[in-house]
Amino acid sequence: MSPVDTVGTKEGCLCFAALQVGYYNGKCTNTSADVETIVKNSRTSQFATDAMIIGQLIRLQFHDIFVRGCDASILLDGKSKEKNAAPNLNLKGYNIIDNAKSFVENECGTGIVSCADNIIVAIREAVVLFYSVTTGRRDGLISNKTKAELLLPAAEISVTDFIILFGNLGLNVSDMVLLIGGHTVGVAHCSSFQDRLYNYSNTGKAEPTMDSTLLASLKMTCPQNSMVDNTANLDQNTASINTIDNSFFMQIQKNKGVLGIDQEIDLDTRTNGTVASMANDNNLFLSQFGATMVKMGAVNVLLDPQGQVRLSCRSVN
Ligand code: HEM
Repeated sequence: MSPVDTVGTKEGCLCFAALQVGYYNGKCTNTSADVETIVKNSRTSQFATDAMIIGQLIRLQFHDIFVRGCDASILLDGKSKEKNAAPNLNLKGYNIIDNAKSFVENECGTGIVSCADNIIVAIREAVVLFYSVTTGRRDGLISNKTKAELLLPAAEISVTDFIILFGNLGLNVSDMVLLIGGHTVGVAHCSSFQDRLYNYSNTGKAEPTMDSTLLASLKMTCPQNSMVDNTANLDQNTASINTIDNSFFMQIQKNKGVLGIDQEIDLDTRTNGTVASMANDNNLFLSQFGATMVKMGAVNVLLDPQGQVRLSCRSVN
């Protein structure tokens, strides 16, 4: 991936101000209820019973936004679409968005609420943080697998490239550190960090900074030359693997980062100040994580009359 490449859309804009809290108020044809309440009510039993959904949805949003902006291009079906790009093959949660979409359409009316907004509102419900989401996005018409493979960052991205990549989207260094705090939930496959265990930078050895207990445990999960791609928790605090909190930052301060970039943000002086602030104050992290998710959700959005409101999130109208 070229670090100076951009999101690749001429149409969208960094429209923090153009999106609104409560954009759909009064727009439902069937009900006076607002869309956020409808999505809240649509929280299927899956939200309650499958804690893994939190991480899956957050990553889905991140991967949508980094390719052509926050336009639900990730949801489109088809062999040549983003969904089938290599970094996206492990993404899950599409059915949750489908469910939220059909629930909203039943309650609110057809063709009113975009799939891009459905993603954003569903995630706020999943993470159970009470920040105010902004809506008013329209859905994109284009989704390109090759573009996604070019733009989505790999786990071994350097901090310098990470800063450039996020900077291209209008996100600053502390936004970037806060957002990677999303790794406080969810899992990574062995293939995403195997080199750190056995052949760091082609040395034939493990990454020297990794905590020795973590190294031993990851080697058990991911034996060398195994044919099975197991998973490890991104947050090594077993008490909060699926809870949005600051423990990820505390873990990386103990050299217990699973992905290369996770550990690097604590080793680099450009980012470790924010890591320390977040590790020291859970309430600060919770309030700022929500605000930064809202900011990321405004990257390269399409506004009326651009794009469309898809009738099915999986295909253009
Ligand atoms: C340079 C930036 C980033 C890189 C290189 C990166 C890389 C990765 C990788 C390699 C995985 C594991 C994939 C797998 O093996 O299945 C992962 C998982 C995850 N990432 Fe990131 N990530 C980045 C930024 C972000 C951001 C900004 C967010 C959220 C705002 C995020 C949220 C997540 C979540 C929640 C998971 C767990 C997914 C699951 O449990 O299914 N990541 N990331």
